[in-house]
Amino acid sequence: MLKRKDLLGIQELGCDEILEILDTAESLQEISSRPIKKVPTLRGKTVINLFFEASTRTRTSFEIAGKRLSADVVNISASTSSVSKGETLIDTARTLDAMAADCVVIRHSSSGAPATIARMTKAAVINGGDGAHEHPTQALLDALTIRQRKGHLDGLKVAIVGDITHSRVARSNIHLLTKFGSHVWLCSAPTLMPVGVEQMICDNSQFLHTTNSIDEAVADADVIMMLRVQFERMSESFFPSVREYFHYFGLSRARVHLAKQDVIIMHPGPMNRGVEISSEVADGPYSVIFDQVSAGVAVRMSVLYLMLGA
Ligand code: CP
Repeated sequence: MLKRKDLLGIQELGCDEILEILDTAESLQEISSRPIKKVPTLRGKTVINLFFEASTRTRTSFEIAGKRLSADVVNISASTSSVSKGETLIDTARTLDAMAADCVVIRHSSSGAPATIARMTKAAVINGGDGAHEHPTQALLDALTIRQRKGHLDGLKVAIVGDITHSRVARSNIHLLTKFGSHVWLCSAPTLMPVGVEQMICDNSQFLHTTNSIDEAVADADVIMMLRVQFERMSESFFPSVREYFHYFGLSRARVHLAKQDVIIMHPGPMNRGVEISSEVADGPYSVIFDQVSAGVAVRMSVLYLMLGA
């Protein structure tokens, strides 16, 4: 069992905790291929999905994960909750606590919102993505996908390409992969690379590299992780045109051939096809994008089990 009340980010997790989550996810994966995909482990527990931002993968896979473990799962979205009438985040959290929720999964546009809720509630809080801060279960499902394809998480070259500035997925993956000694190459347009990103992981800075050349980032890479251009978070133009963006930073088949022969192509979704990745690459033989989605159910079952199952 995890010896922590909340899962707020990868930064505070030790390698032993990450491996425990991945090992448990692997052992739970089999449940999803059974004719009756349900075990009674979390019977009597209540999980609340509190999503203040849109989501398909994270919200649905937490719901499926909870239900496969027999928890009662309730979904709340901002538009249908009393938040739309002006209720504060903290009053919302206290209200859910008064209903004896065992776990709250929260997604919010503000970095730190899950940590605020965690301080105000007795329930376990899981960060389902907060602003540009962290998306811990995404990095865990990415790590499970990589480990199942490559056999290990150390010594790999992982290129993370795209809108780094707005990406909580990039931050969580940087923490996780460098903890295990993989080299992470961040690549983006200069306008989409956060200033001072190299200082983000002082302890393991030798494992973090930055470049504005996608060809340099993907050369001999074991893993290429493409990031969505997050147009909804941009109040100004960060590059001249989508056509130019794909020309300089998009993943085409020709660029895939610069990587190792057994490279895997990842994307957290949702994808902007033709912007950061071509359809022939997204649907091609190196793509593991839908394996990531399957791994997401197992990882979220694992996290719920390790946090609530005792
Ligand atoms: N990867 C991810 O977080 O996807 P959703 O926004 O669909 O949850």
